Amino acid sequence: MRSKIIAANWKMNKDEYESKKLTFEILKHLNKNNNTSINKILCVPFPFLSTIINMCSGIEGLFVGAQNCSSNIDGPYTGEVSCLMLKSLSVRYTIVGHSERRDLFGESESLILEKIKRLVAENMIPIYCCGESLEERNKGFHIKKVLNQIEDSIFKLSTKEVKNVIIAYEPIWAIGTGKTADLEDIQEIHLAIRKGIRSKFGRSISKNISILYGGSINALNAKQIFDLSDVDGGLVGGASLNSQDFIDIVNSFN
Ligand code: 13P
Repeated sequence: MRSKIIAANWKMNKDEYESKKLTFEILKHLNKNNNTSINKILCVPFPFLSTIINMCSGIEGLFVGAQNCSSNIDGPYTGEVSCLMLKSLSVRYTIVGHSERRDLFGESESLILEKIKRLVAENMIPIYCCGESLEERNKGFHIKKVLNQIEDSIFKLSTKEVKNVIIAYEPIWAIGTGKTADLEDIQEIHLAIRKGIRSKFGRSISKNISILYGGSINALNAKQIFDLSDVDGGLVGGASLNSQDFIDIVNSFN
């Protein structure tokens, strides 16, 4: 069964006090109204994982995730955080291949594939991001670009490995800009991704894989996006930094 998922990507925002405050406010809302059929995943900065995991423990349907991980198991990799370290904190979900990591930190599709493989080997769940630039979109290459990304990473997984993956389609030009893709375009590309997964891994996997949309989701546009038949939820950046906005987005999903 495709899970309904709203993941928050806090990126490099909030200090410890602010992170706890935001989490506390989200918990306050969820204590009153928690639709447990929707998985809510807070992908928070590394230093605050433990604190926020403790705050969120025992709340059904609420998870705490990371925003990145190392492709290496352990060793002399100064500044890196391994999957095993995350796993030891009971982190299950990790964003990989976000366009900011691809563009600003030079992450290649093959490195992203290594991270995915490392995560699924530990029974963890990668939230794999893909998406096209504005130039690629304007040239009409967007579907091809996204399918190429997926072919170079997700298609190299085994059937067993791919079962543990969530895909997030995030057009780069929609991230943090207030511009979202047209609804028809979102549905078209999500369907193309699902068809690609079906042709490679078969109907059962394609029916069960969750494909999220990300890029300027807010409380006003979320419902229309989530109503699209091949959209299983969202990966939310800016709007997840405000508790009311985040909860409104979660509540718009039914
Ligand atoms: P915004 O919601 O701020 O556009 O960010 C989307 C994103 O990058 C989530 O990973």
